[in-house]
Amino acid sequence: MSGPARLDPAARDAERLGRHRDHFASVFPPGAPARLFFSPGRINLMGAHLDYNGGPVMPTAIDRGTFLAARARKDRRIVLDSTLEEAERVEVELDALPARAGRWADYPLGVIAEVRALAAARGAAGRLTGLDVSFGGDLPVGAGLSSSASICVGTAFALDSLWGLGLERMEMVDVALQAERTFVGVQCGIMDPWAVGLAREGSLLWIDCKDKTREYIPIDTRSTSIMVADSLVRRSLAQGQFNERVQQCAQAFALLAPHQPGAACLRDIRVDTWDSHQRELPPVLARRSRHVVTEVERTFAAREALLRGEVRAFAATMFRTHVSLRDDFEVSVRELDQLVESANEARGCMGARLTGAGFGGCAVALVENGREEEAASVLTRDFVVRFGKRPRIEFFAGDSGPREVSLA
Ligand code: GLA
Repeated sequence: MSGPARLDPAARDAERLGRHRDHFASVFPPGAPARLFFSPGRINLMGAHLDYNGGPVMPTAIDRGTFLAARARKDRRIVLDSTLEEAERVEVELDALPARAGRWADYPLGVIAEVRALAAARGAAGRLTGLDVSFGGDLPVGAGLSSSASICVGTAFALDSLWGLGLERMEMVDVALQAERTFVGVQCGIMDPWAVGLAREGSLLWIDCKDKTREYIPIDTRSTSIMVADSLVRRSLAQGQFNERVQQCAQAFALLAPHQPGAACLRDIRVDTWDSHQRELPPVLARRSRHVVTEVERTFAAREALLRGEVRAFAATMFRTHVSLRDDFEVSVRELDQLVESANEARGCMGARLTGAGFGGCAVALVENGREEEAASVLTRDFVVRFGKRPRIEFFAGDSGPREVSLA
C-alpha cells in the first residue's frame, strides 16, 4: 500500500536497523557483532473482535515494527535491553526464568520459555545458549498496532535463527500466541501473531478463525493508501477490559447456543436467531453479541466486495463497523470517534474505523491515492479544534513479515 513518497524498503531496513546495531554496540560490551531482525506490526481492516469468537478477520502487516539486535553468549545468561518506552534492562538465567512481573520483558521472556520447552520436546535443548538482545522499533506501543505480537513473533524468529532450531513459521506464530496467553495473561485471539507472521505485502490476510483456514486477498495498492491516525489516548486498564469483552462474549454464547443447533462459537449464531432471542439476554450481553453477529455479516460482505475489486464498497463497511464498536461493543473513545467522523466527511477517504482492541490507540482509514494530504488535514483540523492537540497521522505501506536484515 502506498502513500506519500517513501524510501525503498531495503534502504529503509538498512537505515533503521543500522542505527539499532549502533545502539546495541553502545550498551553491550565489545564482542561478536549482533545479528539484526525486523518484525512488523499489523492493522486489522475488518473482523473486529471476531478472532476469539471464531469469526473471520482481515488484517495485514505494516512496514513499522520491532527491531532486534541479538547475539549468543558463552554462558546461560539472558540480557534484555530495550529502547522502548520505560524499558529497563532485565538479566535472568535461561535455566531459571522468572514468572510474569507485569513489565515489558514479560513478552520476550514468555517466548523464550515457550521456545525452550519446544526445543526440549524435540531433543534440541543442547543448542540453547545465553543471549544479549536489544529491542527497539518504530511502532507506537499500546496504539492498537499489535506491538506485542510484533515483539513476540520477532523474538521467536530471532531465537530460531540464533539457536538454529529450524522451526516452521507456523510454530513461531504459535509460540508467540502461547507466550501472550499463558505468560503475559491476555486472552487474545489468533489474529495478531498470524497477521505479523504470515501476511504478504499487497494482500489482506483472510483468516477464518473457526477452522483456521487462511487466504490472501489482493487489495489494489495503486489506488489505495492506508492512513493511520493515532488518537494518542493510551489506557492502562485496556488488558482487563479486553479480557472482560472475551468473557462477555462467552457468556452471551452460552445463553444463545441452545437456540442455534450445532453452534460451536458466537460466530455461528445467525442474526435472525439473535433477533428472536436477544431479549432473554442481559442488555450488556445483548449489545456485545449484536456487535459480533453483525460484524460477521459485514466481514463476509466486505470480503465479497474486495474479491470483486470494489475497494469503495469494502471500505464503506469499515464505517459501519466503527459504529458497532462504539455503540454495541463499547470499546471506542471520543478521540477515536472524532477521527472516524472526520474521515467520514473528508473527500477521498473511503472508510475508517478504530483498529485493534480499542480503548484508545489508532483509527485506520482507506484513502484514495493522491488525496492523502487533503484527508490528513481534515482529520487534524477537526481534532485540534476539539481537543487542542494534533493526532499523529501517518501512511503505512504493507510488509511481508519477520526477516533477518544484513547490512552491506
Ligand atoms: C486485540 C487482540 C486480537 C483481537 C483484537 C480485536 O488486538 O490481541 O486478538 O481480538 O484485539 O479485533
